[in-house]
Amino acid sequence: MTQPLVDRYGRVHRDLRISLTDKCNLRCTYCMPADGVPWIAKQNLLTTDEIERVAVVFAHLGVEEVRLTGGEPLLRPDVVDVVRRLANVPTSDGTLLRVSMTTNGIRLAGVMSDLADAGLERVNISLDTLRPARFRELTRRDRFDDVIMGIRAAQESGLRPLKVNTVAMHGVNDDEFVDLLRFAIDHDAELRFIEQMPLDAGHTWSRAKMVSGAEIVDRLSESFDLTELPGRGADPAALYSVDGGPRTVGVIASVTAPFCGACDRVRITADGQLRNCLFARDESDVLGLLRSGGSDADLAAMIRRSIAGKASGHGISDVDFLQPDRPMSAIGG
Ligand code: GTP
Ligand code: 5AD
Ligand code: SF4
Repeated sequence: MTQPLVDRYGRVHRDLRISLTDKCNLRCTYCMPADGVPWIAKQNLLTTDEIERVAVVFAHLGVEEVRLTGGEPLLRPDVVDVVRRLANVPTSDGTLLRVSMTTNGIRLAGVMSDLADAGLERVNISLDTLRPARFRELTRRDRFDDVIMGIRAAQESGLRPLKVNTVAMHGVNDDEFVDLLRFAIDHDAELRFIEQMPLDAGHTWSRAKMVSGAEIVDRLSESFDLTELPGRGADPAALYSVDGGPRTVGVIASVTAPFCGACDRVRITADGQLRNCLFARDESDVLGLLRSGGSDADLAAMIRRSIAGKASGHGISDVDFLQPDRPMSAIGG
């Protein structure tokens, strides 16, 4: 049996995140500039055959789950085909790859049942506010109703657990935490509040502006009885039961309580660059390797080299921390 993807800290990598496009139909102020985005040239996007080939090699190396991200993954015209192909890739333990997606939900209502038929197992939907005017301001687009329809379609599809992601922001949505949690509970979804990380296009992030996980818990505790649940593993979210359960809420405190020590993730950008960490300082050119006739063995060797060089964590608190040049929309969420 092939050796799994273990790094020098003993972390085994089982979770591959593939960005399908850097394009998005929103322009969230904390992620993208209003205009002038330097898009990836079309010929530099991984083709669907290339994505499948990369996934097959990763699955052979012990990857069990693939999460499709973007940009907005549903903007890729052949997204259903991508899901179908990946969901049929055999893993090294004799099962099939589990395929999930993180989306802004706008196009979800139109394709939810096709995605589920193609083998999509789970979906996480981003929603930062329940107020349409605020949504328009934050995302610079008037698409609130489409997102809500997407969440309803996901709810009706029966794919579970259904998760909603909310980036917590002072002065933007910190007065809505309770409403957002009630909304998620009403839609049979698990809400996760997220600490904002330094991945914005404008490089304006500061720790002082960030809402910390502790603050989120304090705020929610004014209205709900929260009890932290044990057993987090590689899950980025610390989970709390709400009012005695069974409902839960998650807090992803990537900055103040990093989960890097249990990290099992590796990612590939839409232009085929392998990153061993969201905050990696360098990338490995998978696209170049594939297009210059590299073999699967060459690709596996490139992946192993990358994982071997992975840092222990994101280092956001280090004095020499450098925010990645590319924003999250280009790296992949
Ligand atoms: P599940 O498998 O459902 O738990 O998905 P997920 O939480 O891993 O994925 P999702 O795309 O929903 O990401 C939610 C949030 O987790 C993102 O907004 C990020 O804040 C954070 N996140 C995702 N991947 C990474 C990562 O590799 N490193 C760090 N530090 N944070 C990440
Ligand atoms: N920090 C944390 N999460 C972020 N997201 C986008 N930018 C950031 C950031 N700077 C979230 C999105 C989405 C997920 C893919 O990442 O809201 O839920
Ligand atoms: Fe893993 Fe890097 Fe994310 Fe930490 S920041 S959890 S090491 S990908």
